[in-house]
Parts: sequence; C-alpha cells; structure tokens
Amino acid sequence: MKQIGGLFQAADWKTEKHVPVIDCPDQVKAGEFFPVKVTLGKEIAHPNTTEHHIRWISVYFHPDGEKFTYQIGHFEFAAHGESVEGPDKSSIYTHHEVGLSMKTGKPGVIYAAALCNIHGLWQSQKEITVSK
Ligand SMILES: [Fe+2]
Repeated sequence: MKQIGGLFQAADWKTEKHVPVIDCPDQVKAGEFFPVKVTLGKEIAHPNTTEHHIRWISVYFHPDGEKFTYQIGHFEFAAHGESVEGPDKSSIYTHHEVGLSMKTGKPGVIYAAALCNIHGLWQSQKEITVSK
C-alpha cells in the first residue's frame, strides 16, 4: 500500500476495495465529449451500510504541461440505509458509482478520489491521449 503525501492512499484496485476504478477510453478525440465512469469495489466489493460506506467521489483532470489541476465533478452518496427505525433499516442505498462526460483539447491525467467514512481518502489515476 502506497501513501501519497500522507493524505491519500493508493493501491491496486484488483486487491484493494477502496481504490477508485476509472473507466474511459485510453485515447479521445480533441474537443469531443467522452464518457468517464468511476466506481470502486469492482473486484472486491466495498460495504455499503450505515456504519461503513463511501461518502463521495471527486474527479479531476490535469492537462500535460499545465501547472494546475481542474475539478471535473464531485458526487455525494447520501443514502446508506439509515432511517427513523435505526441503522440499515430503510432499504434505501446510493451505490458508489458515477458517470460523467467531459472533453479536452489536451492529453493529461484523470484523477479520481474517494472517501470511505472509516478508512479515509483513496485515489487512482488514468492517462489519456488525444487525437486531432
Ligand atoms: Fe471502507
């Protein structure tokens, strides 16, 4: 398990259930929207209960050669089974999976960050190239 700056943890998503999995084309067309799906627990399911769940996923893009990173989207998962009857009694749950569309004229790296309510911050990244 590798830590990034002591804040985010990273690992192989095939063996660690907290790592966001970024699903998008390796190569995109300049200026054309493409789909990006981010989920986690693709190989090993992450729990989704009132006591233990994923709170949010954020997606960022860092264009090659630029200094700053852009935030593409932020997604909150607000239902984890809680109700007036108690924890895990509502049967209502948000699944930790998001889909968005984005476009870029430049290649770069897509980053995804996820927060588990008890296991902290996790991140992963995927490089994309751009064809004209
Ligand atoms: Fe967790």
